[in-house]
Amino acid sequence: MHRAGDTGPMDQHCTGGTEGADASSTEGAGSTGPLAEAGYRQVDGAQAAAATIDWWSHAAEDYLAEHGELLGAADFRWCPEGLREADAHLLGHLTELRSAQVLEVGAGAAQCSRWLRSQGVDALASEPATGMVTAAARLDRATGIRVPMVQADARSLPLATGSMDVAFTAFGALPFVPDPQRVHAEVARVLRPGGRWVFSVTHPLRWAFPDDPTSAGLTAHRSYFDRRPYAETDTAGRVLYAEFHRTLADHVSDVVGAGLTITGMLEPEWPPENTTVWGGWGPERGRLLPGTLIVSAELR
Ligand SMILES: C[S@@+](CC[C@H](N)C(=O)[O-])C[C@H]1O[C@@H](n2cnc3c(N)ncnc32)[C@H](O)[C@@H]1O
Repeated sequence: MHRAGDTGPMDQHCTGGTEGADASSTEGAGSTGPLAEAGYRQVDGAQAAAATIDWWSHAAEDYLAEHGELLGAADFRWCPEGLREADAHLLGHLTELRSAQVLEVGAGAAQCSRWLRSQGVDALASEPATGMVTAAARLDRATGIRVPMVQADARSLPLATGSMDVAFTAFGALPFVPDPQRVHAEVARVLRPGGRWVFSVTHPLRWAFPDDPTSAGLTAHRSYFDRRPYAETDTAGRVLYAEFHRTLADHVSDVVGAGLTITGMLEPEWPPENTTVWGGWGPERGRLLPGTLIVSAELR
């Protein structure tokens, strides 16, 4: 969960981006040039999604240096609010999960799957960015908990139809593709009937507000209904990094359109004892506005 702040020279949104870095920090990311512009605009979705995977690959180590302590190596937090699977049981109780096949998509360094494995659950992680896959292997060695990993885009999983009981992601995959419907459809394909799909994303409401954890982030500055993605582009106009907005109703349509039934939604409240600031998330805004949406669905 990158969840960058709006503290730098470039306006940026929810979970990723250059975190106010100067242009040189993205030089060398893929075959594109340095960061030139950031903002909300129409982009070539296919190029943007591929570039964003590349961005995550190159940014993996910096991201983990900055956020790795909070994420842990074998810990399962759904969101910056701090909700843990150990308390929320959104995937089901561990007693049931221990006899289930569990898939994580957009797993990053697979901290959540590693926690599940530490609890005796057969979790498989999938992640497209090479840098993240490498980081996951490093955390496997450091913890002695090996997470099986498939390097794959969540829109095209090299897994058999009906082979999984549970699938999930904590801020992975969905915000980084122009066609999240394909992620839901692919998850529905690999789930067995009765299987469960749970995902957390930036709360859609946040897109109307500056990505700032302070009171400056409490005044809406753009339309919630503006679906143009947040994109960072190089001097040639090629996208280096992008995030795509879905309204609440869009998320519902996307999930239902994939043949899944929504069984629950959560908007975790900011706990007063949580003093952490992570990008646009923090206690000041957290006590007034939701920062995360978690959706649970089933294949019936
Ligand atoms: C914010 S991280 C979430 C992972 C982990 N839960 C964390 O908090 O670090 C976002 C992840 O989504 C992955 N991602 C980006 N595009 C993707 C795609 N098309 N399919 C699957 N995952 C993707 C990124 O590579 C990155 O590892």
